[in-house]
Amino acid sequence: MFTDKFQQIREALTYDDVLLIPSRTAVEPREVNVSSNFSRHIKLKVPIVSSPMDTVTESGMAMAMAKQGALGIIHRNITMNQQIGFVRRVKREETIVIRNVHTVSPETTIDDLRDIMRTKNIGGLPVVSGEKLVGIVTRRDLDFAGKGRNTVEDIMIRKVISANDNIPIEEAVEILHKNRIEKLPLVDRNGRVVGLITAKDIRNREKFPEASRDENGQLLVGAAVGPFDLERAQALEKEGVDAIVIDTAHAHNENVLNSIKKMRKLVSVDIVAGNIATAEAAEDLISLDVDGLRVGIGPGSICTTRIIAGIGVPQITAISDVAEIAAKHGVPVIADGGIRFSGDIVKAIAAGADAVMLGSIFAGTEESPGSEMIMNGRKYKAYRGMGSLGAIQTGISDRYGKIGSNKFVAEGVEGAVPFKGRVDEVLFQLTGGMKSGMGYVGARDIGELKTKSRFVKITSSGLRESHPHDIRIVSEPPNYQIYQV
Ligand code: XMP
Repeated sequence: MFTDKFQQIREALTYDDVLLIPSRTAVEPREVNVSSNFSRHIKLKVPIVSSPMDTVTESGMAMAMAKQGALGIIHRNITMNQQIGFVRRVKREETIVIRNVHTVSPETTIDDLRDIMRTKNIGGLPVVSGEKLVGIVTRRDLDFAGKGRNTVEDIMIRKVISANDNIPIEEAVEILHKNRIEKLPLVDRNGRVVGLITAKDIRNREKFPEASRDENGQLLVGAAVGPFDLERAQALEKEGVDAIVIDTAHAHNENVLNSIKKMRKLVSVDIVAGNIATAEAAEDLISLDVDGLRVGIGPGSICTTRIIAGIGVPQITAISDVAEIAAKHGVPVIADGGIRFSGDIVKAIAAGADAVMLGSIFAGTEESPGSEMIMNGRKYKAYRGMGSLGAIQTGISDRYGKIGSNKFVAEGVEGAVPFKGRVDEVLFQLTGGMKSGMGYVGARDIGELKTKSRFVKITSSGLRESHPHDIRIVSEPPNYQIYQV
């Protein structure tokens, strides 16, 4: 009975155990297209996602990721309202047509107007009387308000340029440019304000042509929820979140599966479920109609699950086992955790993943919410596992460790990672590495990387040979710095 278990025991591999074999190629790295799916309905130009962790992804990180064509998943170690606030900030960062337009009336006092502009961070508002557009008032009008002017009526511009609600974007841009105005209210047949186009949003759009955006031109953002948090999932959907990521250490759990079944009925945005590491778990989750699978039990840099619980599957094997099933159903696979180098991303996708999720690398960037610290003259940023004692105690997460009421068995550690600069620079290096790898394989796109790539298994001597050796490094290239610990 016991010896049987070892008779046909499988070997499982991870990133450091394998390399991709170079092939005859007609593909130059600059010609490579790395776009891929994060979930059934979300395609990313850069299939890299930042982890829902409290030292990695809040609104600043999510915006920076989406602007570069990638995606951020807001963590859930905060109240529902705080999380909704972060989602709202990302969705409001860029838009082409603002639908939920804030307005004032001619009778609004200048003090109230100032308050609205400050608290809502808006530079100009349409003025409506009844429901009709009668003017527009901007920060500049406020600056010149002067004495004796007490209400919006005294300072607003009455000859307001507006456009019909269904005006094509190009025409709207032309009106903005021709009239040198910042804001163009859109009105319906009855003169009611039903939308607003701003020059700032148009400029942003032109500045980030590769950004991940929804059909309204707003940046894409995902948010994590606990497996039983149906209320939070619905509230996030209402706020306009683009994907719900179910965040649990073990999604192949019957209570979790039952809850996902319920969530599927309540939520219509894409649901990505995880984490899992086996083909059976993939089958069970796909049967619940989820839109993506998050793979990785214990590979993360801050994870101690494998040490504490003795559980896990080395990541390359976990990805390929799950992808074998998922690919048949057209469900994207996200390789989550354990990625230290851009080469690992190439290996993850060659093994069957559609996108990758990274914590440690992004925790070190300027846009992460973690605190900065200096150690031995070098800048670091805090990074901790969501199953670390610190994260469990300060937050409301139930991902790991709550055994008993006030005692915890941590499944993660707390620490710091070297500062790595801005997210756009890091993403440039990561995608550059991907393109290079795909060039060696002869893969023009992610689909070809999956089908054309071949692996070799390497030994510990092969691994040693792979990293710089027999040299004292005096000048680290930027990408090498990103990967240093
Ligand atoms: P990297 O290697 O990119 O991994 O830093 C990030 C991923 O690790 C997972 N995660 C944890 N796993 N205990 C764990 O076993 C933890 O405390 C923990 N916190 C995060 C998560 O999947 C994340 O995306």
